[in-house]
Amino acid sequence: MKEQLQQLQAEAIEKVEQATDTKELQDIRVAYLGKKGSLTGVLRGMGKLDKEERPIVGEIANQVREKITNALDGKLAVFEEEALNKKLAAEAIDVTLPGRPISVGGPHLLTTIIEEIEDLFIGMGFEVKEGPEVETDYYNFEALNLPKDHPARDMHDSFYITNELLLRTHTSPVQARTMQKYDGDKPVKMICPGKVYRRDSDDATHSHQFTQLEGLYVGKNVRMSDLKGTLDTFAKKMFGADRKIRLRPSFFPFTEPSVEMDISCKVCGGDGCSVCKKTGWIEILGAGMVHPRVLSMAGYDPEVYSGFAFGMGPDRIAMLKYGVKDIRDFYTNDVRFLKQFHHA
Ligand code: PHE
Repeated sequence: MKEQLQQLQAEAIEKVEQATDTKELQDIRVAYLGKKGSLTGVLRGMGKLDKEERPIVGEIANQVREKITNALDGKLAVFEEEALNKKLAAEAIDVTLPGRPISVGGPHLLTTIIEEIEDLFIGMGFEVKEGPEVETDYYNFEALNLPKDHPARDMHDSFYITNELLLRTHTSPVQARTMQKYDGDKPVKMICPGKVYRRDSDDATHSHQFTQLEGLYVGKNVRMSDLKGTLDTFAKKMFGADRKIRLRPSFFPFTEPSVEMDISCKVCGGDGCSVCKKTGWIEILGAGMVHPRVLSMAGYDPEVYSGFAFGMGPDRIAMLKYGVKDIRDFYTNDVRFLKQFHHA
């Protein structure tokens, strides 16, 4: 019986060693140690043994059971570890791999330029205002000294919505709107950036939608020299301390006198090149002293108050500053173009 037990042990352990999966181990466990298993079968024959032999064989039987159990448990642990390793390998995350870049948006170049201009004027005491893009004929034209049949309306090819409503052709209506709110007895010092619309055929330098930035300063004793000083400061801060400005006489119905401001060309330093069309100067904005009629229509007494106004095009300024050749690039939103101006 001893031999029988030892043989059984050897057999079982060999099978355990050859087992290839946990299912096989389970079968071996049942086959040898189960209620109907071989070991149990052998032990059933114990009754036939001598009294003295029984404890000895019993002990051997216990050792055999223990050995087989240990072998089974050991192998099971190996299988479990293998399975775990396999799973870990399959699910491994290589933390050293570079991540996929998340593409982050940024402000549009025009937004950046407008904010830069705003900062300059805020530094000079101007407030930032807003006005509607769908504007009344009154504010867009009449309040700016452009009555219905005024020939200067021809300068603005407009998108009319009704007879009295249109897409604003400039940001100047915000001059009148702001003055009206100030009740005719407070100084006004504001800028207003925004979109404007004109019925232009789009090309490299024209767009039916573009941006403007208006400025207005109304107070007592505001003079042309204040306008010039303000614009000179702006030009030097925006384009460089070495830039000169020049004011040329011009015409706008809402300013008198009216001027256009040029800055000296950075490319040629004033000698004349293709950028400045050989003149040495580049036109930047329109400006002038607020027309007395515009003041009085908005409730300001032109005998007491005077003011200056200016209007510039951030599109044009961005084009000059960054060498953008085509105004349509601002609106067609090709990310390859836009991305160049994202400075994180
Ligand atoms: N509104 C004018 C334009 O669109 C610019 C301007 C603004 C001129 C203010 C003078 C004063 O051309």
